[in-house]
Amino acid sequence: MFSTALRKTSKRCRLSRGAVLGRAVIIPECTSPPVCQRRAHQQSRRASNGTWRPVSVLDEWVAREARPISLRQLMVFGRSLTESRLISSANYVRTELPARIAHRLRDMQQLPYVVVTNPHINEVYDLYYNAFDQFRKLKEIKTLEDNEKLCDIIRHNLKGHLTVIPKLAMGILECGGLMDPQDLDKFMNTILRSRISRRVIAEQHLSLTETFNSPYFSPGAKLSESDFIGEVFIKCSARDVITRCAKAVTALARSTNGPDVPIPEVNIVGHLDASFPYILSHIEYIVGELLRNSVQAVIERHQKQPDAMSSVPPPVEVTICEAQEHVIFRISDRGGGIPRAELPYLWSFSKGPQSAKRLENLGQVPRMAATMQELHVEDELGRADLKAPAAYQSSLSSLTSRPPNLRLGMGLPLSRVYAEYWAGSLHLHSLEGYGVDAFLQISRLGNKNEQLVTRASMDS
Ligand code: COI
Repeated sequence: MFSTALRKTSKRCRLSRGAVLGRAVIIPECTSPPVCQRRAHQQSRRASNGTWRPVSVLDEWVAREARPISLRQLMVFGRSLTESRLISSANYVRTELPARIAHRLRDMQQLPYVVVTNPHINEVYDLYYNAFDQFRKLKEIKTLEDNEKLCDIIRHNLKGHLTVIPKLAMGILECGGLMDPQDLDKFMNTILRSRISRRVIAEQHLSLTETFNSPYFSPGAKLSESDFIGEVFIKCSARDVITRCAKAVTALARSTNGPDVPIPEVNIVGHLDASFPYILSHIEYIVGELLRNSVQAVIERHQKQPDAMSSVPPPVEVTICEAQEHVIFRISDRGGGIPRAELPYLWSFSKGPQSAKRLENLGQVPRMAATMQELHVEDELGRADLKAPAAYQSSLSSLTSRPPNLRLGMGLPLSRVYAEYWAGSLHLHSLEGYGVDAFLQISRLGNKNEQLVTRASMDS
């Protein structure tokens, strides 16, 4: 059915009305498959009872709502793993990934033509369309062998999609001015949030499969409190996260600024025993980015002092606060605050006084690991003691491989996307001429569903 629609559309598509937006969209002579595919997706047909019903494959998948998960569900499900649970997980992934990708494809189709045909955005569209097509065609998973095939496809896509973040970021920056910046940011927030969600589902399934296949695994055996269940770290210690990120950030600052430049200490105070279930790479991404900004700001400000090389810069203070339902991190620095001109664009992917520079810097980062374990390389921080799944061993790799002065303009907005994804929040207070306080709130119980819809908070 899909290919027939595609063939018909290919012949027709010259000048057409935007079926989705209801506004005129000029479709050029069909030279590239994605444009034809887009037209094909938008076919619909009047049913015998007079109502419109979808006929394209994409429409069918867009009609399916995502089935959100919580960290607790992931833990409960994976706690006593059996073959039949692994197969259920496989079928959840098999149907959930294409449904979630379909919604994003539809979002892309609804962008103005000039935006969706931007080469970077178009490449992301193609990647997503191919992934959608691969997953939707998979038959029900019935055996462990079927599951292995699914896992190969997942691995292939996880790797292939490493280029998505810089591509999206460049596309969005290039399209600034062609569309309302708030709408562009909303689009970006939603697409990134959805990407996180898909990678969580996919990586969780790979981890469960890895656990199941391990020679030490006995089906149905319960895991201990300090373990990972798949990708979920059951008892993520706030203090350990900060310590590890501080170590990585300090090493990075030292290698970028040189061994003689004084680096601020990172002090940790407050509820040092606070812990919560979380995906370690997510919290490390956020805390790593916040510490990275703070440490670099303090270094740069301190360098302006006449006695810079002989004096000690003020420390970055991290306060941990454990409340009934939340753990809150306050990261305070005395790096001089955020320049007034940058404040309105702090959370924007698409706009800001440094847009041209950001675009240039992004060009230097062809692949970017957002969840940081994505790159799957060894990290030097010795986290073997965590008994983490293989992927976790590399969680700080993108932090350690990107110089802090290479500003991509992604760190803060992406950190907020991560924080909000598991129903947390991230706010910044800048004290002009003094420093910044960042407040990161994490849900402590893991009982909140993933937040797939971009909240209004991002409009402010
Ligand atoms: C992504 O990284 O954007 C994905 O959707 C990956 C998924 C298809 C496994």
